[in-house]
Amino acid sequence: MSTTLIKNIKELVQVTTTDNRLVLRGKEMSELPTLQNAWLLIEGERIKDFGSMETCPSVEAATIDATGRMVFPTWCDSHTHLVFAGSREGEFVDRINGLSYEEIARRGGGILNSAQRLQDTSPEALLEQSYERLKEVIRYGTGVIEIKSGYGLTVESELKILRTIRELKKMSNVTIKATFLGAHAIPKAYKDNRAGYINLLIHEMLPQIAIEGLADYIDVFCEKVAFSVAETEQIIEAGLKYGLKPKIHTNQFNCMGGIQASVKHRAISVDHLEVVNEDEIKCLQDSNTIATLLPSAPFFINDHYPPARQLIEAGLPVALATDFNPGSTPSGRMSFVLSLACIKMRMTPEEAINAATINGAAALELQQNYGSIGIGKIANFFITKEIPSIGYLPYAFGSNLIDQVFLKGKLVD
Ligand code: NIG
Ligand code: FE
Repeated sequence: MSTTLIKNIKELVQVTTTDNRLVLRGKEMSELPTLQNAWLLIEGERIKDFGSMETCPSVEAATIDATGRMVFPTWCDSHTHLVFAGSREGEFVDRINGLSYEEIARRGGGILNSAQRLQDTSPEALLEQSYERLKEVIRYGTGVIEIKSGYGLTVESELKILRTIRELKKMSNVTIKATFLGAHAIPKAYKDNRAGYINLLIHEMLPQIAIEGLADYIDVFCEKVAFSVAETEQIIEAGLKYGLKPKIHTNQFNCMGGIQASVKHRAISVDHLEVVNEDEIKCLQDSNTIATLLPSAPFFINDHYPPARQLIEAGLPVALATDFNPGSTPSGRMSFVLSLACIKMRMTPEEAINAATINGAAALELQQNYGSIGIGKIANFFITKEIPSIGYLPYAFGSNLIDQVFLKGKLVD
């Protein structure tokens, strides 16, 4: 078993010695425990121990001197659509010229545009481009990632995406969870037969996905341009029958009851929340559902940002994720999400780091093993370049300040 010792760490961030910091709600999010002038010992794929330099052990180990540099647990990006085909910069220009994201979707662009491209792309080509994106986000410090289907919209193409995710799991040390989002849009062929598509999803896609064990969660895009609340509930219930818990896209543009429907079915998370009303906040307060915010999406489509302060002040657990996808967020860079969270949503650096690590892990039910530096946890962490303080990370928004990334105890080339 390989042993690695990182010593002289300027600050070891998000350390934990208790089992109480597994999901942080409201005020708890402002506390970020760190250890200055520290060491970290890795054995095999797990964290063996850590402490401050006065107690640094002398062990036979590959040793890294981290003088001036900090160590963070890797980001847990709990919401992405990383497996997609091609790009949509044409729509980007359409929006510059005045069309809205929803207008483009209504014209048959948007998700349907990506679905057509994906159907025309071979599994090999899809895997190749997805793997390139995955390697890029790992370089930016992501060590746990959720990836959704949803650009297939036929039995064959939804399976193509989920099988691609299965291949990615074999190709990388990054930890991946898969979500079935067949209910991302109504495909063109079912434009006048919504019930027909939902039937296909429930009676053909879901059983095959379950047989092959291809998904951990079920997602629905609950929105005026996509699926109604009643349809959302129908699809969540079908997913639950196969053991897929819900993580739901809702409240991106409209408050329609998607949060209430998700909470009723004990959703692990509700994601987006650019718009959210008092009743919905109350509903979340009575639940364990995590509010996952995706600020790169409103940044890119020029929309308003989720009310993060209001959610935190209501005592809710908030997670941050990228939403990496070709339409609303062609970026999987978590450090930019942190900058947006601080600049546009007035989260403090401590809150943003908690939201991107331990709460992101909790949004994937992986908080026991990921999201903080604790003895026995998986050794997923990154070493920064020399930085003056924790706040420098979201402050220097254009720089890549991550020097080395370790996944499951191994340095990523
Ligand atoms: O989370 N809102 C729904 N789905 C994606 C974007 C889909 C697309 O435009 O391709 C999102 O923003
Ligand atoms: Fe999304």
